[in-house]
Amino acid sequence: MVYVTRVEHFNAAHKLYNPNWSKEQNEAAFGPCANDNWHGHNYEMHVTVKGMPDPDTGFIIDVKKLSKIVKQVILDRVDHKNLNLDVDFMKDKLASTENFVMAIWKELEPHIKGGKLHQIRLYETPRIYVDYFGE
Ligand code: NI
Repeated sequence: MVYVTRVEHFNAAHKLYNPNWSKEQNEAAFGPCANDNWHGHNYEMHVTVKGMPDPDTGFIIDVKKLSKIVKQVILDRVDHKNLNLDVDFMKDKLASTENFVMAIWKELEPHIKGGKLHQIRLYETPRIYVDYFGE
């Protein structure tokens, strides 16, 4: 089995806020990420597809096509958007990187043909990232 990864970037705003909690509880749990007036991140997303290379192309999946799918299905809907307000698939979810990566997987996975989606790694900052394998 071979694994191929495409790296994409986008920018988005969010806040971490549990509406069932008081302002004080939110600030205690989320610190500056609970800031009322939002804040932004430069996200980096690694999309890994697994499979065996096609004998005719040598590819598991054409990475240019993969990039186009990721752009249409995810980036066009999240780049320069507010995750809490603008992104339909994050509606009513706490906009943590953990919840975000799971929601991205759910949107993207049905569109990956040929190879199989194996992993999405989502960096919220250069030093914080989450991995999701769809389970
Ligand atoms: Ni944040």
